[in-house]
Amino acid sequence: MMVTLRDHLGGVRADLASLILKICEICDIISDGIAYRMGRAETRNIFEEFQTTLDIWADNLFIEELARTGLVRTIFSEEQHKPVRIDDYGVFDVAIDPVDGSSNLRSNNLVASIISIYEKRMPTKGRDQIASMYILYGPVTSMVYTVGEGVHELLRTKEGFMLSRENLELPEPGELYSVGGLRKDWPTKIKAYIEKLEGEGLKLRYGGSLVGDLNQILHYGGIYAYPTLTSSPEGKLRLIFESNPVAYIVEQAGGSSSDGEKSILDIEPEGLTQRTPTYLGNKRLIRKLEKDLKDP
Ligand code: F6P
Ligand code: MN
Repeated sequence: MMVTLRDHLGGVRADLASLILKICEICDIISDGIAYRMGRAETRNIFEEFQTTLDIWADNLFIEELARTGLVRTIFSEEQHKPVRIDDYGVFDVAIDPVDGSSNLRSNNLVASIISIYEKRMPTKGRDQIASMYILYGPVTSMVYTVGEGVHELLRTKEGFMLSRENLELPEPGELYSVGGLRKDWPTKIKAYIEKLEGEGLKLRYGGSLVGDLNQILHYGGIYAYPTLTSSPEGKLRLIFESNPVAYIVEQAGGSSSDGEKSILDIEPEGLTQRTPTYLGNKRLIRKLEKDLKDP
């Protein structure tokens, strides 16, 4: 029997379930709208990156539609220069990366929406998330979410999002590695660690789309990293919009997240634009990485 998203959210508190359903409705519209908005806009986001017309449209759509729910206090968007205050009587703060990886559009590579939901006021550490999810606009649009009780995957069909896998866990021992940044910029210890993984027979799969790359690790096991680089010690990924939501999913799927020393979810954010080295994957691999980085 097909399980709809609404059915699957049956045990989740009503306000949170209703917010998640709304987010999926928005992503449904985005999924259909991508083909018409693949060009570059002339504006830049808070990270000084050129936006695409898709980024701007999806960001506005999220903000307008989430504002109507009456559930959202403040929206923090990767595309906005300041938090967008919606309703002081709202229940949740929401962080959105409306279209992550939009630079991939040119070659029709993967893009995704990433969302994290907090009851506490943001900015606060990722451990305070009460839900996080991503919608991957792949050959099939899929949605992966957690409300703190495992990780579940749904596929978009004509009849809406339908459950495909419940309680996903990173398979052991892990088959893939996916590492961003130029190899020449990887610190020596990262280079040595990756060489060991290659020696163990892990296979490289890197597409340059955080969610696309991470989703492979969720299904095959292994490690995803956007590491510290000699040219940029904090790496590339943004703590609030990118690293925290996916770290919550990976930890809920039995894996670990790390900034090189501790769980990403334990980082106290100092600002909206904060970046962090990001390592996500099977527990054994992350423990080994932390140890190798610590060893003299
Ligand atoms: O916004 C960050 C992002 O687009 C991620 O989706 C992706 O993992 C990363 O940048 C890719 O970076 P690079 O082009 O350096 O591989
Ligand atoms: Mn992004």
